[in-house]
Amino acid sequence: MPPLIVIILQENFIPAMISTQHLPHPNEIQRAMDCPSKEKELNEQQSECQDGSNCPDYCPATAESNSESPRILKILQKWIPTVSPYFDKEHYCYADHQITIQESLDHFGAIVWPGALALSQYLESNQQEINLKDKKILEIGAGTGLVSIVASILGAYVTATDLPEVLENLKLNISRNTQNMNIHQPEVRKLVWGEDLNEDFPKSTHHYDFILASDVVYHHTSLDPLLTTMVYLCQPGTVLLWANKFRFSTDFEFLEKLGNILIVTLLAEFPESNIKLIKATVKEN
Ligand SMILES: C[S@@+](CC[C@H](N)C(=O)[O-])C[C@H]1O[C@@H](n2cnc3c(N)ncnc32)[C@H](O)[C@@H]1O
Repeated sequence: MPPLIVIILQENFIPAMISTQHLPHPNEIQRAMDCPSKEKELNEQQSECQDGSNCPDYCPATAESNSESPRILKILQKWIPTVSPYFDKEHYCYADHQITIQESLDHFGAIVWPGALALSQYLESNQQEINLKDKKILEIGAGTGLVSIVASILGAYVTATDLPEVLENLKLNISRNTQNMNIHQPEVRKLVWGEDLNEDFPKSTHHYDFILASDVVYHHTSLDPLLTTMVYLCQPGTVLLWANKFRFSTDFEFLEKLGNILIVTLLAEFPESNIKLIKATVKEN
């Protein structure tokens, strides 16, 4: 077993992210998702799980068996977040595009979190149900930008937002992965939860079809401003897609509060990694 190097990023860094289990590093999963082999791999997986058994990953045969139930997606079941010395460039493949993400160590938005993988996977796999072509999208807490890049590749007009200190790396990743492509070029903007929403994103001129968010709920002190921001950005016709690893009781409390204000549906679950994908829309009067 390779030695585990634990790096504490911040005083209040989430202990649940530190694991000594020998499970595949995200890099190994990404290699398995290498674009050229992807189709063959998916075909093999689909034929293996036609009868609902032996499903190594996302299994359409079982996932779509009951349209009323949330989909059970297993693609991340072996994914346990680890803090390791591998911070550099990560390679992903979504929507038949190789995506290279520059990570760093200086803040929470500097690495790709499991919710971003889950949401990217969902958007890629459900393009008929969630058609992003020419839709207006805003991502909050975009971090490294993976989800915004995937949404852009899928045809959306994307605004990726985060704290000021995260924007430089976010811009770098977004421009590296979208420039010179025949897609709507994404925009990167500051959006601090709960601050200056009326001034910077007036409702009269800023209506979004989708608000995207991944792993924005964890142990931090801005949960109330985050809730305010989600509710503010959700206007009639807007769909909030929020993927999150549920770790703490406060995460469930946040979900409950959101459900008191918006109509909340569980779209998909990654049970073994405790990731849920939630859809929320405004309550019609
Ligand atoms: C756990 S990271 C998730 C990043 C990315 N969505 C992902 O899943 O890889 C949380 C993100 O929320 C951002 N964030 C935290 N507090 C924020 C605040 N008060 N206003 C805006 N963004 C914030 C962080 O900068 C970070 O990018």
